[in-house]
Amino acid sequence: MILDEFYSHYIYTNSTDAPCKLVSAAAFVEDVETDPVIVVDGLTKNWRYPGWRISWILGPKSVVETVASAGSFLDGGANHPFQKEALLLLDPSIALQETIAIQKHFAEKRQYTLDRLKEMGIGVDAEPEGTFYVWANLSNLPPPLNNGMSFFKEGLKEKVITVLAYSSTSIPTTAAPMRATRTIVELALGGDEEAYHWIKRRRARYSKVQLAS
Ligand SMILES: Cc1ncc(COP(=O)(O)O)c(C=O)c1O
Repeated sequence: MILDEFYSHYIYTNSTDAPCKLVSAAAFVEDVETDPVIVVDGLTKNWRYPGWRISWILGPKSVVETVASAGSFLDGGANHPFQKEALLLLDPSIALQETIAIQKHFAEKRQYTLDRLKEMGIGVDAEPEGTFYVWANLSNLPPPLNNGMSFFKEGLKEKVITVLAYSSTSIPTTAAPMRATRTIVELALGGDEEAYHWIKRRRARYSKVQLAS
């Protein structure tokens, strides 16, 4: 079993008095050499250092060595100075401090995004309990905004989606309509007013078209 824990610090269901909620399959591994479990994590999301290209795996030594060897063969592997710096970030007290900050900050972004979507009549079938995306249901918008792909194309016309989509994971502070499929779009949680204004403007325009026809 391979578990990708890149988003494991982004949890919004902390119901206890603890300062933050953290889960990892590592807590359930009894013998790292024999349990059929590999945990994958990295700096891209939980620590928000995508440019460093540093990740790691927890698993049997033979697996770790094989992956390190493949990485070394394919692209030379992660550079050593960054690996050394990354070790400092993995200090439990620093990791905890980062997680508390992430959960507080992103819980606010999550609420902001959900409130704005609701205000615009865009449905959210399942409110996100983790990560920094929300799957929004476009079916109540006037055409052509009620389909993921044409919604995406409308965004391209105003150059909103291209600009925001590229920055959505690298700088998770923007609101980015992205990964559009049928009537559902995935929005990065964020506070970028421009994205919401864009949807509002388009919505108003196409509602008029619909009324007129
Ligand atoms: C589920 C998941 N795992 C891992 C990653 C990290 O990938 P990378 O560090 O190559 O950007 C991502 C990035 O989008 C992701 O969505």
